[in-house]
Amino acid sequence: MATTKVIAIDGPSGVGKSTVAKALAKRLNWTYLDTGATYRAVTLAWLEAGRETSLPTQGAWLRQLAVDFQAGDILLQGRVVNDAIRSAEVTANASFISAQAAVRTFLTDLQRRIAGERPCVLDGRDIGTVVFPKAFLKVFLTADDAVRAERRWRQVGAEQADESLDEILKALKERDRKDSTRELAPLKPAEDAWRLATDNLSQAEVIDAIETEARRRLSDEA
Ligand code: DC
Repeated sequence: MATTKVIAIDGPSGVGKSTVAKALAKRLNWTYLDTGATYRAVTLAWLEAGRETSLPTQGAWLRQLAVDFQAGDILLQGRVVNDAIRSAEVTANASFISAQAAVRTFLTDLQRRIAGERPCVLDGRDIGTVVFPKAFLKVFLTADDAVRAERRWRQVGAEQADESLDEILKALKERDRKDSTRELAPLKPAEDAWRLATDNLSQAEVIDAIETEARRRLSDEA
């Protein structure tokens, strides 16, 4: 039986998952869970702990990390880290951290626990394949590399004016390569994912399309 009350939204970097997932959660009055933020929070903790390579393999180190969401903020050890987890340094190191088995086990458990308590829209890379393979709706968003790089550039352009569009495109491709070729929970669509190519769609059109599909499936289940 499908798991009700979980919508999985997966896809590569810069495809617009988080904006779409957040808006969709708001429309449905469900909780939005940004799983990328949890990987970023562990990455931040690791950088702050001095980048010791064995740390992310240690369950004991991971279990003492309090990663939590409260009122839309991401907390690490009780501290709001919304901005700190978006730094270029965290972004550059997140693929290394998210390829570690112990990290994935720790964060998959955390994500299942949070989403087990309330209806959730989750976005990430492995939500439909690993975290909630029985979610009642598993969306896989795609867009051409150049389209995604431009979206990201517009999104961060103001704060990171030192990064050109070309550099963003290069970094984004490299991150996708690492995320989709790693051994554990690689970025890929679930076999029964509902795929949506977003190249020629506005954000509002993407949200509308997923909402319509979600409501259709919810009413079928009722
Ligand atoms: O979506 P994002 O850019 O915030 O993700 C940060 C990193 O975490 C990225 O390298 C992919 C990884 N990630 C993952 O491996 N699994 C997820 N469910 C979400 C993100």
